[in-house]
Amino acid sequence: MTIIKKIIRHFFSLRVKEIPKDLYVERLRSLVVGEGMLHRGNIYLMDYALKHMPKNGVVIEIGSYGGLSTNLMLYLLMKNGRVEKLINCDPWMYEGYTDRHGIKSKTIDGRTDISRDDYSAYMKSNFLNSVQFLNKDNLPHSFQLTSDEFFKVYDKKIKAEDIFNQTIQLGKSISFAYIDGNHAYQYIKRDFENVDKYLMSSGFVLFDDSQDSSQFGSALFMREMKQNTNYQLIEKNPNYLFQKRN
Ligand SMILES: C[S@@+](CC[C@H](N)C(=O)[O-])C[C@H]1O[C@@H](n2cnc3c(N)ncnc32)[C@H](O)[C@@H]1O
Repeated sequence: MTIIKKIIRHFFSLRVKEIPKDLYVERLRSLVVGEGMLHRGNIYLMDYALKHMPKNGVVIEIGSYGGLSTNLMLYLLMKNGRVEKLINCDPWMYEGYTDRHGIKSKTIDGRTDISRDDYSAYMKSNFLNSVQFLNKDNLPHSFQLTSDEFFKVYDKKIKAEDIFNQTIQLGKSISFAYIDGNHAYQYIKRDFENVDKYLMSSGFVLFDDSQDSSQFGSALFMREMKQNTNYQLIEKNPNYLFQKRN
């Protein structure tokens, strides 16, 4: 790497707030698949939200992939002495590069011998392995559902069984939500609306890939969030963390 590149990288790294050095969090990034999916600025924002969120709600995660953010939030909950439960959903579906243009093959990009179904089973097993290894006594409550399907069940306020065969009461108020599922605008908007119905006053919502330079619908949706008078922007690091006003 040239000196100029190093200086530029250093300059940008200075602008992201981080939690104090935590050896486990550093290790975690290489223990679980999907390192590139978690912006290090999100770690600071999650920690902030999990520390300051209102009590007695639940933490919701939309989009878990291999479990990096799930394991991280479970750890930060424990580190901050919080007892709120983490509920997450992910269909573990393969998202192809051309899906959004209506071009969808049965296999993963660039390979004709690896089916999307096998990919799905592989990603789910990565998730199961990582949480069972790192949080066996503190499992999340995980549902193999899209966020739309998940909130349909959540709205019924029933007791439901998750992929670990644990039963949990759904429909509780939400203290903090991390939105990191389908990043297309209409999905982000709907995910937010579903979360908003249950989010407590002073509760938090963090949007992954919402930074101003992002090409995702999450960034587009931030224009609406900034106009939403029920919410206060807490921090851009560089993704957006909002708190619901009282
Ligand atoms: C960027 S990854 C999540 C990364 C994860 N939060 C982490 O930091 O390790 C996005 C995930 O969203 C899931 N996903 C896609 N569409 C979804 C939907 N409609 N509802 C919920 N999850 C969805 C995908 O299966 C994928 O695992």
